[in-house]
Amino acid sequence: MAVFVITLIALMLAASTAVNAERVYSYRMCPNTDCEVYDMFIDPCPEAQYNRACAWPENSNTSVAFIYKPEFGAHFPRTQLYAETFLTDFPFLGINTNACLYTSCPVVKDTQQYWLFDLFVPPKKYVKTHYTIKFMLWDIFNNHQQCCFTFDVKIV
Ligand SMILES: *[C@@H]1O[C@H](CO)[C@@H](O)[C@H](O)[C@H]1NC(C)=O
Repeated sequence: MAVFVITLIALMLAASTAVNAERVYSYRMCPNTDCEVYDMFIDPCPEAQYNRACAWPENSNTSVAFIYKPEFGAHFPRTQLYAETFLTDFPFLGINTNACLYTSCPVVKDTQQYWLFDLFVPPKKYVKTHYTIKFMLWDIFNNHQQCCFTFDVKIV
């Protein structure tokens, strides 16, 4: 199973023309999350070898791929990435919130599924600094159950 999963992720990353994907272990599940997340690969993220925040250059493409196993199903899954601060979470505008673009739909309860974000970091839009990014996945008719984790990125 593990070999199959790694192979599939490798294929997904190849499909997204990712060649520098690094396995990332330093993501953190939210305290109230309703899912498990495994086998995360971020491209680019050479910093992952040193357990540091991924550095994402402006005006470049990045990708985030992982396997997740939700405790809930979703026919109309929505997703968003937020910049987490100690006051509140700011959504990144420009993310299409239709999760079916990144995973196969419907999202099936208690089943391992694949996720692939291809993201573009626009020039001069975000302050070049360190961000804790929060990933969220939920169903449009049920926001009480969520898949949620955070990871660290530096826009450079
Ligand atoms: C990012 O990806 C898009 C879509 O694949 C492509 O059109 C664009 O040229 C890429 N941009 C950069 C800076 O590599």
